[in-house]
Amino acid sequence: MSDPAQLIEKIRATLAPCSLGDWPTPLEPAPGLASAIGVAELALKREDRASASCGGNKVRGLEFLFAGAPPDTVFVTLGGTGSTHCLATAVHAAAVGGRAVLAQFPQHDTPASRAVAAACRAQAALVVRARVRGSLPLAVLAAWRRAGALGPRRWIPGGGAHPRAVVGQLLGGLELASQVAAPPDAIVLPLGTGGTAAGLALAVAALGWPTRIVGVRVAPIFVANRWRTTWLAYAARRLLARHDIRIPLPASRIPLVVVDGLGPGYGHPTPEGEAAGRLALQHGLVLDATYGAKAFAFLMRRATRNVQRVVFWHTFAVPVPQPEPAP
Ligand SMILES: Cc1ncc(COP(=O)(O)O)c(C=O)c1O
Repeated sequence: MSDPAQLIEKIRATLAPCSLGDWPTPLEPAPGLASAIGVAELALKREDRASASCGGNKVRGLEFLFAGAPPDTVFVTLGGTGSTHCLATAVHAAAVGGRAVLAQFPQHDTPASRAVAAACRAQAALVVRARVRGSLPLAVLAAWRRAGALGPRRWIPGGGAHPRAVVGQLLGGLELASQVAAPPDAIVLPLGTGGTAAGLALAVAALGWPTRIVGVRVAPIFVANRWRTTWLAYAARRLLARHDIRIPLPASRIPLVVVDGLGPGYGHPTPEGEAAGRLALQHGLVLDATYGAKAFAFLMRRATRNVQRVVFWHTFAVPVPQPEPAP
């Protein structure tokens, strides 16, 4: 392949994303945590540090999803009340002179989801809440309609799962080429709507690495699955091919393994996840119960001992505390 740094530059020059994040995000060795879980090497890709105002894995995708939007655009999206995708959309919409309208469904209450929900209320122009998950489509329609009164609208799919956003995640994977001495055995991350894992799978294919992407499923199977992730990866690859940027991909299978970490449901803590969160915290790493803790729990399972050199994709940024909006 061409030099990864040149490929990053070419993709940015061709698709002209907005600038929302601080790239590259750091890759930090975590030797103490590595020996605690019994792997030879562990490094943390600090996607949480993607931006001082609101980091996390969604920033990369939003750079591409916001591209070319006129100022005053109202970005409409959806997610759970504790959705960091919703929060990132709201915070970064303001950075490009726009606003966000959110349609949200109730999710299990945890300190992290409460903090994200409060930050969403403070940052979005409007939050339309479904009373139950089943009425989310109505909340989405109401959000879309009411956003129309605020300015020109742009739809951002749930989780930012769109081929353009996958291209942003691909750049994150390509960054690793200048940060590691040799390809890791695995990159482990939480699997939600699939865009992040799809981009990373494209990246390791582009780099010609034998690395497996291990997506730990933390959302229901109709949202988080291999089929959707594969579709996103191939759609992003086709999008790049239309701009004459070719990413090689194995014809049969993308290098993705999906493992289950959901437990009782999206946003519901699991005992394994809680144990992983406690261990990580002893080493200074803050994991959230919905995504990071469940993904890290995978690394603590005995069956993973054949994976020795690991990059953990640290996707959750603790929200910057926000004052509540005036009633
Ligand atoms: C903190 C965090 N980690 C991981 C994910 C999963 O990313 P994806 O939806 O791209 O699979 C999300 C999705 O919302 C997230 O908010």
